[in-house]
Amino acid sequence: MERIFGRPIVTQEEMRARIRELGKQITTDYTGKDFVLVGVLKGAYAFYADLARAIRIPMRVDFLMVMSDGARARKSGKVKMVTELTEDIKGKDVLLVEDIVDSGLTAQHLVKTLARKKPRSIKVCTLLSKPDGRIVDLVIDYVGFKIPNKYVVGYGLDYQQKYRNLPYLAVLDMEGEQE
Ligand code: IMP
Ligand code: MG
Repeated sequence: MERIFGRPIVTQEEMRARIRELGKQITTDYTGKDFVLVGVLKGAYAFYADLARAIRIPMRVDFLMVMSDGARARKSGKVKMVTELTEDIKGKDVLLVEDIVDSGLTAQHLVKTLARKKPRSIKVCTLLSKPDGRIVDLVIDYVGFKIPNKYVVGYGLDYQQKYRNLPYLAVLDMEGEQE
């Protein structure tokens, strides 16, 4: 069944402009560093691809695939890491790229886990942040957009593994009703 989405909550134009700004800032902040950009799959794939190309310094790319499906996993933040990094991040400056930070549990768990590998620094960049959902005190260094506490899909984000390929970000109509 096809779902009908309302107006984009973030348009493709807004997304492009904001990612260009983030890329510039990250370029400035990481110039001269041994930089590794770590994307959290699957959700961050679209953002990661655009962000990486907006960053104008040499860097390594790497990915983690995590599964946070299931309410229990989400509540504890103990997401299952399905794949490991391939780069050795010891002594390097790592930027973790997330699609969305809601409670903050997932990002906090990943930062703690990667910190054990002794990077020189580890920071977090997220396309979206839902500040109203936050239950842990997490420093997010780069935020694309702050959004209200609504379930969004598209641009990498899913609802039951679908809608990731929607080229813009839309609020999911959970009731199945049209707006
Ligand atoms: P957190 O651990 O509560 O910060 O949530 C992290 C994960 O929940 C994200 O990586 C997403 O997979 C998922 N999530 C939270 N809000 C949304 C949403 O609005 N749309 C799609 N996925 C979401
Ligand atoms: Mg995710």
